[in-house]
Amino acid sequence: MPPSMSFPAFLALVLCSQLFRSIPTPTISFANQTVIVTGSNTGLGLEAARHLVRLGAAKVILAVRTVSKGYAAAEELLASTKATKDVIEVWQLDLSDYASVKAFAKRVEGLQRLDAVIQNAGIMTLQFKKVEAMESIIAVNVVGAVLLGLLLLPKLRETAERFGTRTRLSFVGSDMQYVAQCREAQGEGSAFEKLNEEKGAAMDDRYATSKLLLLYAVRSIALLSSPQSGSKSSVLINCMTPGLCKSSLFRDDLSFILRTLQGFMMTLLARSTEVGGRALVDAVRPDLGEETHGAFLMDCRVADNGTSVDSVEGKKLQERFTKELFERLEEISPGVTSVLH
Ligand SMILES: NC(=O)c1ccc[n+]([C@@H]2O[C@H](COP(=O)([O-])OP(=O)(O)OC[C@H]3O[C@@H](n4cnc5c(N)ncnc54)[C@H](OP(=O)(O)O)[C@@H]3O)[C@@H](O)[C@H]2O)c1
Ligand SMILES: *[C@@H]1O[C@H](CO)[C@@H](O)[C@H](O)[C@H]1NC(C)=O
Ligand SMILES: *[C@@H]1O[C@H](CO)[C@@H](O)[C@H](O)[C@H]1NC(C)=O
Repeated sequence: MPPSMSFPAFLALVLCSQLFRSIPTPTISFANQTVIVTGSNTGLGLEAARHLVRLGAAKVILAVRTVSKGYAAAEELLASTKATKDVIEVWQLDLSDYASVKAFAKRVEGLQRLDAVIQNAGIMTLQFKKVEAMESIIAVNVVGAVLLGLLLLPKLRETAERFGTRTRLSFVGSDMQYVAQCREAQGEGSAFEKLNEEKGAAMDDRYATSKLLLLYAVRSIALLSSPQSGSKSSVLINCMTPGLCKSSLFRDDLSFILRTLQGFMMTLLARSTEVGGRALVDAVRPDLGEETHGAFLMDCRVADNGTSVDSVEGKKLQERFTKELFERLEEISPGVTSVLH
């Protein structure tokens, strides 16, 4: 079992980040660039899209599971930024429906260029529920997100080569990865099968575990597609956290006491989604450095990967889990992992 960070150490880290680190408003130009933001009808994704429009992106694609919500968001973005109508597009994408993910990727093939992708869509819930024959948090936050990332890699590469630039793919993870228990992925046997058992599922840890497994996957993908050192045309891949932000991520009903406690924490510590959105944009900025490739970013800089990643056990688990994930992805979309070899 990989040792996760102790709770006091985690608390100190989070408090320091939330209270003392500032996230500057991005100012770099995204002129001529096409950027996709998933889950951008609300929350952090919407605010990231607003920054991108403000920074002059040529095209910002709102990838949303409900297009009517996407159009409402687009209207609001247009009104607040005074951008021209053709800058914002709304495309359907449901990460819990892999046919939808594949159709979305197919549509991306038709784009002139793709400069950056912010894989932001994600869920947090205490309810055990299955989609695509998998527990939903794992299906959406890990498998769906990575499937989409791999399917978009060819277009990102093509754009990098054509323009001699670095294109960027960022996955929105979470600080919670530092304290993930990841009990189901331990020991022998299939991690996916164990994560799929409803009986005894540690749902209070499932979100954190999903973000740790996502980080493992991102690190493996980055390793298998490392740009040549100093290369001007390549795809940079990272996993980032916006820190604790006031959004509607937690949508379950809570008891009065828990709700009050959560509200209290949020008021004291959480960033606004506008501030969190800055960090999302920073993770795909056009002048992103090579040192971010395969790294975990927090407060707009390369952060400690954490003991669940750096320890010997963590390294083993990363390897075992990625192998299983890639097998699963090959079942869903044959040939999808061949972009890595
Ligand atoms: N808020 C925080 O404190 C915090 C901290 C660390 C990391 N994060 C991460 O930041 C990301 C954004 O979260 P948020 O706080 O902005 O939460 P949010 O307000 O709940 O937004 C989540 C977005 O993801 C979309 N989404 C959910 N399931 C989807 C699916 N199956 N297919 C496509 N889109 C889907 C949602 O669409 P609908 O509106 O249609 O449901 C919504 O647009 C998540 O990955 C989250 O884990 C958040
Ligand atoms: C954007 O494209 C125009 C026309 O091709 C070009 O003149 C300009 O230099 C480009 N701007 C950037 C920042 O790449
Ligand atoms: C975390 O791991 C990545 C990839 O191996 C590495 O590039 C990065 O420097 C590591 N972070 C730290 C703080 O060591």
